Amino acid sequence: MITGQGIDRVDGRLKVTGRAPYAAEFAVPGLVHAVLVTSTVASGRIVRMDISGASAVRGVVAVLTPMNAPRLPQGGKAGVNPPAGRVLSLLQDDLVAYNRQPVAVVVADTLERAAQGARLVRVVYASGTAKLDFAAAKPNAFPPQRANREPTDHARGDVAAAVAQAATSVDVVYTTPVEHHNPMEPHATIAAWEGDKLTLHDATQNVGGVRTTLAKIFGIAPENVTVLDPYVGGGFGCKGSAWSHVALAALAAKAVGRPVKLVLERPQMFGPVGNRPHTEQSLGLAADGAGKLVAVRHATISETSTIEDWVETSSLPARHLYACANVLSSHRILKLDIATPTFTRAPGEASGNFALESAIDELAARAGIDPLELRLRNDAERDESKGRPYSSKSLRECYRVGAERFGWSRRAATPGARRDGRWLVGSGLATATYPANRSPAEALVRLLPDGSVVVASATHDLGTGTYTVMSQVAADALGVPIARIRFELGDSRLPKAPGAGGSQSAASVSPAVHAACKAMQKKVIELAIADPRSFAYRVDPEQLTVVDGWLRLASALPAGGRPIAAAGAGGEPIAAIVARNGGTPLETRAEAAPGAEREQYSMHGFGAVFAEVRVDAALGVVRVPRITAVYAIGTVLNEKLARSQMQGGIVWGMGMALFEESLRDGRDGRIVNANLAEYHVPVNADVAAIDVAFVAESDPHVNPLGVKGIGEIGITGVPAAIANAVYNATGKRIRDLPITLDKLL
Ligand code: MOS
Repeated sequence: MITGQGIDRVDGRLKVTGRAPYAAEFAVPGLVHAVLVTSTVASGRIVRMDISGASAVRGVVAVLTPMNAPRLPQGGKAGVNPPAGRVLSLLQDDLVAYNRQPVAVVVADTLERAAQGARLVRVVYASGTAKLDFAAAKPNAFPPQRANREPTDHARGDVAAAVAQAATSVDVVYTTPVEHHNPMEPHATIAAWEGDKLTLHDATQNVGGVRTTLAKIFGIAPENVTVLDPYVGGGFGCKGSAWSHVALAALAAKAVGRPVKLVLERPQMFGPVGNRPHTEQSLGLAADGAGKLVAVRHATISETSTIEDWVETSSLPARHLYACANVLSSHRILKLDIATPTFTRAPGEASGNFALESAIDELAARAGIDPLELRLRNDAERDESKGRPYSSKSLRECYRVGAERFGWSRRAATPGARRDGRWLVGSGLATATYPANRSPAEALVRLLPDGSVVVASATHDLGTGTYTVMSQVAADALGVPIARIRFELGDSRLPKAPGAGGSQSAASVSPAVHAACKAMQKKVIELAIADPRSFAYRVDPEQLTVVDGWLRLASALPAGGRPIAAAGAGGEPIAAIVARNGGTPLETRAEAAPGAEREQYSMHGFGAVFAEVRVDAALGVVRVPRITAVYAIGTVLNEKLARSQMQGGIVWGMGMALFEESLRDGRDGRIVNANLAEYHVPVNADVAAIDVAFVAESDPHVNPLGVKGIGEIGITGVPAAIANAVYNATGKRIRDLPITLDKLL
């Protein structure tokens, strides 16, 4: 089996030699460049625009504004179906709903001229006082219709009565800031029309979703839209939706009759393409004298725009993570004059886990119980919110292995007790968890006359390793060396796959790839046994197998399964079967979809994150010398890539804990640190030892390959583990992320 092995990325060489083209790098003949002009106010109307200066710039071919842009069917609102299709700003009216909303598009023969033109567009706004104060808007918070796929609220038992009789309780409020995804590759689109057929090279996590949305916006058939994105330079949720610039690139291309390339400037990544919203989370936990939870209350308020209801589902994990008879979990949203938030790596789970896992630590401290011991005493055997067993749950094993690797037993229970010179040293723990999602997916397999194989599905590789793991799954399922397999993705014309969100790509697509490969094996065998020229003519198909690209008699194989000699009477290359079939490639397709097991079991990945921090006693600077994280995520398709994926999540968790915060100007709603110099993320100097391990877990229910997603669980747990370690080091409980030094002084 090559599945599971930590082989190098099959696209690694292309990546490091710069031959893997990103969306903006495709050479489309005759293309012109577009630059967005974005609003400088948070709300109001556009009264007047002066485009004379921009139009006069040499090389500028169009300046699209709400006054002159081509009209779209239904005012550009046809693609609206949140959260998959968003409420966009497509120059169809004069309304401004947030700062950095697109208000014009300047198109020129070069990028520099388009940028110069964009700087010369003058806009006059009628703008009142923007509503930007979260605290002031709180009385108007209201329940959204759904919390993602779950009900907005969940209640069981009687929380108030349980709290009244509890031995220990905590009742605290945590806050998390606005964060922006900032993948290295910014959002970028090249749009080209041929008649009413539209082709897009778009930086996206969802080629199928972009196709559907653009088809609706322009009132054309989905078959007329092709979306291509073979390589994505990071996504994290912001590329999960088609935002305004995608449709604006297509609109501009239509208007000028030439292909248009539109790349967002880095500051424009802080506005029209979503973000993690600010949350305020009220946590109440109560335990009996034995440290058993008797009440859990988690109430989240998050902000959204005036144009769309986005819900940050932070209160979901509290519904099931710990065993408890009395639970209240709720979500409320409030509307401000801000851009619509969106999915941001582990949306809801990342911010919610910070609050819940910090509160568990607070409860442990108050009860005088080791935080690991408290978690073990309250570990949920089944999902009590749904009354279902887990499809698999190896969290106890994660705690055990993690505690051992980290040396948890050496932690000092008393805060502030360990000191190394000027550094206060502390350790903290948090549980990681994320749902194991799955959606329907399709795949095709094409066996070519030279014996090589194309396997394809309209899935995505965000840098996560989809090309590699799908090639591994195909190689094993087909019995063909991985070097002979080419996996294709990122093309909306391929068999359909879900968007690369919710950590579901591997779990959804690998069963389809597996099934399509098994169908190909069957086809090859059927052709051989019906062919008098084949050694396998009239052989019982049960006696045949495909190994290393050869059809073999199973009896001719030694115990280890690999043939002794390459040729001989006992086999033939599967390429020979294609050749005898007239040289026409053989093709099979398969669809794989979740079934009733989704209603019978609760499906989640779990993990345990241990962090050590050092806090400068005089300056409040926090360093994280080491993190140990152990995960139970079902079958690991590629050990090396999975480790890399978790490390990436952990690094982002460090960013969430210590650095990341988008600062909004209270007057005009503008994010003022809209650049990578002032929006801080961890750099190499901030990241020290990260120890990642996986516990063996075989899950027969989650999908045929036992795969749970790993895209998002890595960020969960880390902020709380670090915050809890900071408490252990200093005795200071920071309930407001990020934990910057001013909060520790
Ligand atoms: Mo993930 S936030 O669903 O890309």
